[in-house]
Amino acid sequence: MSFFDSVKLAPADPILSLTEAFKADTNPEKINLGVGVFVDESGATPILDTVHEAEKRLAETNTTKSYLPITGKPDYASLTQELCFGSELKSRLAGRLASAHTPGGTGALRVAADFIAKNLSSPKIWLSSPSWANHKGVFSAAGLELESYDYFDHSTLSLDYEAFKASMESIPAGDIVVLHACCHNPTGADLSSEQWNEVAEIAKAKEWIPFLDFAYQGFGTGLEEDAYGVRRMASNGGLLFVAQSFSKNIGLYRDRVGALHILTGSEDEAQRVSSQVKIAVRSNYSNPPTHGGDIVIAILGDPALRERWEGEVTAMRDRINRVRIQFVDALKEAGINRDFSFLEKQNGMFSFTGLTQEQAIELREKHSIYIVESGRMNVAGITSSNLPRLTSVLKSMLDN
Ligand code: LMR
Repeated sequence: MSFFDSVKLAPADPILSLTEAFKADTNPEKINLGVGVFVDESGATPILDTVHEAEKRLAETNTTKSYLPITGKPDYASLTQELCFGSELKSRLAGRLASAHTPGGTGALRVAADFIAKNLSSPKIWLSSPSWANHKGVFSAAGLELESYDYFDHSTLSLDYEAFKASMESIPAGDIVVLHACCHNPTGADLSSEQWNEVAEIAKAKEWIPFLDFAYQGFGTGLEEDAYGVRRMASNGGLLFVAQSFSKNIGLYRDRVGALHILTGSEDEAQRVSSQVKIAVRSNYSNPPTHGGDIVIAILGDPALRERWEGEVTAMRDRINRVRIQFVDALKEAGINRDFSFLEKQNGMFSFTGLTQEQAIELREKHSIYIVESGRMNVAGITSSNLPRLTSVLKSMLDN
């Protein structure tokens, strides 16, 4: 008998385990379209120039490694709120916001989940069907009950707005609805501004609370444009949760940098909420790691550096959009008997390809092409060197 006899082997993470498998794959022609990481034309995930510059400045000016406040530096809260809400709305809302610097967007989701589980009267958490694979894990780890709402039409591989709207109208008052602010993960199918307006009105009428997962600001149509849903919901007069991430748009994946913003009803409420958020942070990881947060402050807080960074975000977004077009053209040229034009209409790094789990496994095991078994592909991982092989493998698989 061993103390750990009762411990069962857990299933591998459906997304992050792909990176491990990819690294271990000895096929020189392997292609990684699994985890959501931006790659440039050479297949590398480079550190942004503005991040290099910020790190250089920090190395010269940093004087201490002492602890940060539990919810991070005030400058961090202010600058990240501004990016999220825009300066005008931010100054209107600032007193009602309880913000925390968190380890990544996942950290923000988990702190919020713990806060909700401990302080609110058991609201259900509604997730889109499908949603990011880890949403379920994060909210259920906090002991919250989950429900799912309709979102995607698997026959047209696009948003099923009527079914989505009907779901939104049926959600009971006081429940919390997790919405993808832009670049829906895993489908790439987003709401239009008009649709956000309508959903915001439904939220107000039905009195459920929106929780926006905002991990891809700048990767859809632009830093401002991608914030439309968040800002529309924030102007609704009601309450709101936002989980913000700098993994993708500042490329700080492994530095784990994010923020949680909770829009409350009043200054007094914001203080009480913030005091409970501090308890959630303190009992999880005590206080946030400083390095990535300081990079964010250095970039967003310096107008010249910020302008350069905006150019870098535009370049990443343009590359992804170019790759989407090249991919669709290549599939057409290869004569594949399936319409993939939906790929051009989707936003951000991900697309739901319509490939089945069996086909995803076949791609990985037979061809060393890694996509998530749900059929999600990180199109940002396609380059002109791997595109011909990707296309010919898909042709041989789909037209047989
Ligand atoms: C993804 O969905 O691939 C990324 O958000 C990375 C992750 O943590 O799953």
